[in-house]
Amino acid sequence: MHEFSLSRRALLATAGGLLASGAPALAAKKKRRDAAEADKPAAGTAGNRLAFPAPIDVVDGQPYDLVAGPATHAFLKDKPVAVVGYGGTYMGPVLRLRRGTEPTVRLVNRLDRPTNVHWHGLLVEGEYDGGTHPGIAPGATWDARLRVDQPAATLWYHAHLHGRTARDVHDGLAGVLIVEDPAGTVPNLPSTWGVDDLALVLQDRTFDADGRPVYEATAATLEHGFRGRTMIVNGLADAVARVPQRRVRLRLINAAGSRTFRLFFEDQRPFHLIAVDAGFVPEPLELAVLPLAPGERAEILVDFAAGPTVLMTTPDDHEHRSEAGTVVLPDVLDAPARVVAFEAVEDRAPKTPMPTRLCAAEPLPKSTVGVPRRRLELRVQPNAVPPATGHGAMDHGAMDHGTKGHAATDAAATATVHMTINGRAFAADRIDETVALGTTEIWEIVSPDMSHPFHLHGAHFRVLSEDGDRPKLWNGGHKDTVLVENSAELLVTFTRRADAKAPFVYHCHLLEHEDGGMMGTFTVL
Ligand code: C2O
Ligand code: CU
Ligand code: CU
Repeated sequence: MHEFSLSRRALLATAGGLLASGAPALAAKKKRRDAAEADKPAAGTAGNRLAFPAPIDVVDGQPYDLVAGPATHAFLKDKPVAVVGYGGTYMGPVLRLRRGTEPTVRLVNRLDRPTNVHWHGLLVEGEYDGGTHPGIAPGATWDARLRVDQPAATLWYHAHLHGRTARDVHDGLAGVLIVEDPAGTVPNLPSTWGVDDLALVLQDRTFDADGRPVYEATAATLEHGFRGRTMIVNGLADAVARVPQRRVRLRLINAAGSRTFRLFFEDQRPFHLIAVDAGFVPEPLELAVLPLAPGERAEILVDFAAGPTVLMTTPDDHEHRSEAGTVVLPDVLDAPARVVAFEAVEDRAPKTPMPTRLCAAEPLPKSTVGVPRRRLELRVQPNAVPPATGHGAMDHGAMDHGTKGHAATDAAATATVHMTINGRAFAADRIDETVALGTTEIWEIVSPDMSHPFHLHGAHFRVLSEDGDRPKLWNGGHKDTVLVENSAELLVTFTRRADAKAPFVYHCHLLEHEDGGMMGTFTVL
């Protein structure tokens, strides 16, 4: 294995002081579990080589069938297991859309239960957003007309059925969605798919002896989110990517249910952030560590002329604050973990310079006086009144796989955890906010108990401030998801329509929180 030379505390400090003190984190050491050993790649194996099938261009006049159904997949080498997924694979096809077109993607349900699909980061009308779609029956289809009008970006699609999202995404209902913008081509940007332009979907799983991912739906999981012990990339554990010895573009997508990745290269080589959720940042930003919360995307440029390296992540210890004080909940990992290894192969292509200008700079407004404001408070409230029934209730039946003997106590425990926004758990038949089409507002997001990755459908935003201060370096540009550690002010422009029949939603992208009710609806009319 590789030596880890950068101190963990230094990393956490670089990553924005996400943990106030190293001391409580030491408690994490006690949490080492023997089971973690089972997840380690066997010594002597060459790893699991990533393949990058060409994206599917979805074009006007030719509906594309996106089939959700059962599939077989080997996360661990030579251990195929039954999963679900799109297009007969665990990791769905990469779909590519071009700005200025209006293609149709047809969801085909070959599962044995209802399903829907949401295009995370794509600006479409509420009717085609999928976020509050009640789901189509087995055998049914749903046509989403996707009018593409936004800058180039790395997005993703995933199932979004309330109460089931964490489980469905865990089981495989997710894929990559690329928006191309012919008018926004950037010179010197690596763009040969699968060679120097790689999409890497980051997730975490815990595997049983047969290589089957086990979703542990314990009370703790439902309250704090499930975190797996093994990092997988595009569905593979022990992933290896072959890259040329030159500058390579990595499109990173955090499709984990709860884990915030804090990414760095094992040899501490710097890299450049070139794009966030909704598109390019104005110019490349040099970083040593990049936090990526659930739902977020980032594109980075890494120079492999310096040879091979390994992309790593630090443990995701997470803080919970209450009247009784602050506790740090240790991650299942107590040391940095490998995400993906890179083999660098000789390259004869002429060296290209680093791009300088990626898109036009858009400074944040100097004054926001008179901009309408809303405030959303995200809470995990133990012992609050649980939501009635139906909407907002967790699908315990579907989530108790893998809980062994704890099921009864867990069910009792989860019934007393209440996920809310402004005191209310999600209800599909209630409209929480009404926004006027074409307006810009400041949304103040407050998270008193713990950090939440806040996500908004149907609109993009700029981060104006975090905890009353300037936004973090990596939170520049246009975004749709942001990790709110205490509070954040977002400048949101609403350009897509959604009526009460198919409203947009905003929610925590920690998927157990979303399923637990930390989600609200809004119309844009
Ligand atoms: Cu990535 Cu509402 O979702
Ligand atoms: Cu979304
Ligand atoms: Cu949350």
